[in-house]
Amino acid sequence: MRLLALSGSLRARSSNGAVLRSALDLWDGPATTADIGALPHFNPDLDGEDATPPAPVAALRTAVAAADALLIVSPEYAHGVPGVLKNALDWLVSSGECVEKPVGVITASPFPTGGDHANAQLCETLSMMTGAVVPAACREIPAIGPKIDPATERVTDGPTLTDLGVAMSHLAAAATPLNP
Ligand SMILES: Cc1cc2nc3c(=O)[nH]c(=O)nc-3n(C[C@H](O)[C@H](O)[C@H](O)COP(=O)(O)O)c2cc1C
Repeated sequence: MRLLALSGSLRARSSNGAVLRSALDLWDGPATTADIGALPHFNPDLDGEDATPPAPVAALRTAVAAADALLIVSPEYAHGVPGVLKNALDWLVSSGECVEKPVGVITASPFPTGGDHANAQLCETLSMMTGAVVPAACREIPAIGPKIDPATERVTDGPTLTDLGVAMSHLAAAATPLNP
């Protein structure tokens, strides 16, 4: 089963990046991460039927289409979804690669709320796009700082790792191989 992950943080030492890597470690199958930082700003003029999408957009759409499941891992910025991630999703609204695609949404924050606003907004946006959000594969991880080993840039907190494994197994169970 092929997994494509999208991170809402472009930060080099991102805690969400560490969560993403740990989740991918727990995925049984090929897993890649999309480079959404290279996407241009969404512009409907570049998104029509007659338009040729910019190369990074075409690459993202191809990667999403080829994935059996998506995993989104993101921080929350100002009680919202980071612009870079919303921009990536906007490029996928009309093209349709997310339709019925199983998606897990994980937000991690240094605060006790675990990025709950961003998590809810992401689930809402993905549902509007008719993505198949898998509630059992969604998590809001609070107080993320001490749960990560800065040396390995992975989650090392036992209960969090165990729960990440549960989330990933639910995501895998919801996914049907496109090319078994
Ligand atoms: C512009 C900005 C806005 C933020 N707003 C929130 C917020 O609304 N809720 C929250 O939980 N954390 C907020 N944070 C803190 C982030 O959760 C924290 O910086 C986190 O480490 C970012 O994720 P990363 O480590 O994956 O880059 C904000 C951080 C920045 C830079």
